[in-house]
Amino acid sequence: MNKIKNIGVLTSGGDAPGMNAAIRAVVRAAIYYDLEVTGVLRGYEGLINGDFIEMDRKSVANIIQRGGTILKTARSDAFRTIEGRKEAYRQLKEKQIDALVVIGGDGTFTGANLFSHEFDIPVIGLPGTIDNDLEGTDFTIGYDTAINTVINAVDKIRDTAESHDRLFIVEVMGRDSGLIALRSGIGVGAEAIMIPEANMGVEGLVARLEIGRKDKASKIIIVAEGDDLGGAFNVGEVLKQKFPNYDIRVSVLGHIQRGGKPSCMDRVLASRLGVTAVEGLLAGKSGVMAGLVNKELIFTPFDHAIKHIDAKEISPAWLKLVEILSL
Ligand code: F6P
Repeated sequence: MNKIKNIGVLTSGGDAPGMNAAIRAVVRAAIYYDLEVTGVLRGYEGLINGDFIEMDRKSVANIIQRGGTILKTARSDAFRTIEGRKEAYRQLKEKQIDALVVIGGDGTFTGANLFSHEFDIPVIGLPGTIDNDLEGTDFTIGYDTAINTVINAVDKIRDTAESHDRLFIVEVMGRDSGLIALRSGIGVGAEAIMIPEANMGVEGLVARLEIGRKDKASKIIIVAEGDDLGGAFNVGEVLKQKFPNYDIRVSVLGHIQRGGKPSCMDRVLASRLGVTAVEGLLAGKSGVMAGLVNKELIFTPFDHAIKHIDAKEISPAWLKLVEILSL
């Protein structure tokens, strides 16, 4: 195996708070181990276009607390093609980058998985997504910040909901995953939580609201954007028919969930995983994602990390907890 001298680092897919802390950790670890480190701008698009910047200690100073990603991010259609990936490899060779750290979610790792099998270049992933929908890590970088953003917003909604005796339907992010909705819903004491992994449907939702306290006029329903009913506005329409006496409002939290200063949990997770990724590359690892499971830093093959989201957290025990707490 070639000795690694220059590591490329990129962020790809939806951004997540803590990505900057992860970039910083990769850069600082690379320098610590006497390696060069090159930033790739705008994810795989930048790789294909040869959009590279040299990075040093100073280029990652004062970013640990910043949301977003200083390397910018994108979703690349070109990288889904073999021609695109060939060009990316050519650019890496030309720049003498001999290993890659990719920070992103399942789309990022799908590309990384292909790339690391097709070409002779080690690739390690860091789980950077607010959705937390990756196996091989208890939490992804950005999830903790996002759920705290949600509970801060919904606590405010709860104030006005209670003043007006209103039912609020709040939509949170999670196109394919209900993990943001589940935890934040428990955290705000939601009367119902609607998630794609356990669709309750109209009947289930109505039943849940009917079992709930009749004397409590204000209610909060948290809906994951990927829920079967098709988002908060659709849920609102359905409930208006079923409960004409409720004063119903809908609030879609949207991209505020992706921004903001990362929480301490996310900064520390990103920092630990960033250093682990560089050490993993030096130890000869490739085609894997670094993660933290039960307090242990581990590596999980990309195809396992991206294919097992259903099993992750939404067990019957969690659903029962939601049911008990919503009484
Ligand atoms: O980052 C993941 C995610 O937040 C999904 O939950 C959401 O559906 C998606 O990003 C939306 O991202 P964009 O607006 O960038 O397409």
